Amino acid sequence: MPPQHIAIIMDGNGRWAKERGLPRLKGHERGAANVRPVTEECVAQGVKFLTLYAFSTENWKRPGDEVNGLWILLGHFLELELPTMMKYGIRLRTIGRTHELPEEAQQKLANTIAATAENKALTLILALNYSSRTELADAARRIAEDAKRGALDPATITPDTIGARLYTSEYPDPDLLIRTSGEMRLSNFMLWQLSYSEFYITPKMWPDFGKEDLRAAIVEFHKRDRRFGGI
Ligand code: FPP
Repeated sequence: MPPQHIAIIMDGNGRWAKERGLPRLKGHERGAANVRPVTEECVAQGVKFLTLYAFSTENWKRPGDEVNGLWILLGHFLELELPTMMKYGIRLRTIGRTHELPEEAQQKLANTIAATAENKALTLILALNYSSRTELADAARRIAEDAKRGALDPATITPDTIGARLYTSEYPDPDLLIRTSGEMRLSNFMLWQLSYSEFYITPKMWPDFGKEDLRAAIVEFHKRDRRFGGI
């Protein structure tokens, strides 16, 4: 069985560009172009959900030009990739506080989500203006509101109560987390959902991570003995 859900921290676009004497945005451009082959390979391998960490709530700290460039790039990506999404049966979704994104980006996302809503092969989830702590705070607020209006008894709260109020409530937890560029950290990404996921860290920068690298990560995943706390 292939992993049902793969999550990827697409790191190293900036370093990839710097190593070549290029502006950082060129690295992001190559990073965005790299989403297609990796997504195609997920479809080929029978993966059902692919979550990509594209913009964190902390990324607003980057220079304005880089942030604006990323939103423009996202718009281009959505327009360019729609035919591929339709061809392969890819359904686009997002997680994160997307209502805080520039209006144009929100509109393009809404259009693509609507156009691909009936696609069945793979759900491609873009984490945009996402952080796990913000997600958990949003979930806590919803739980408090439900309790306040009498729809929830605090004594009955279980992990499922929380899971049902996360942005990912409709999706299974990732089986496999891939992080490129060799960094050994989670960077506020899916802290709840990755509790029992297998981690695969590769030194390759995201623009250099290809189909064969995804296959290698899946081969490694199959070697892991997943015990979920049992023996
Ligand atoms: C990490 O590299 C990458 C990002 C913060 C942005 C990821 C965005 C893309 C791959 C392009 C847009 C995505 C889509 C889906 C259109 P970094 O800039 O942190 O690299 P560095 O650590 O080497 O500086």
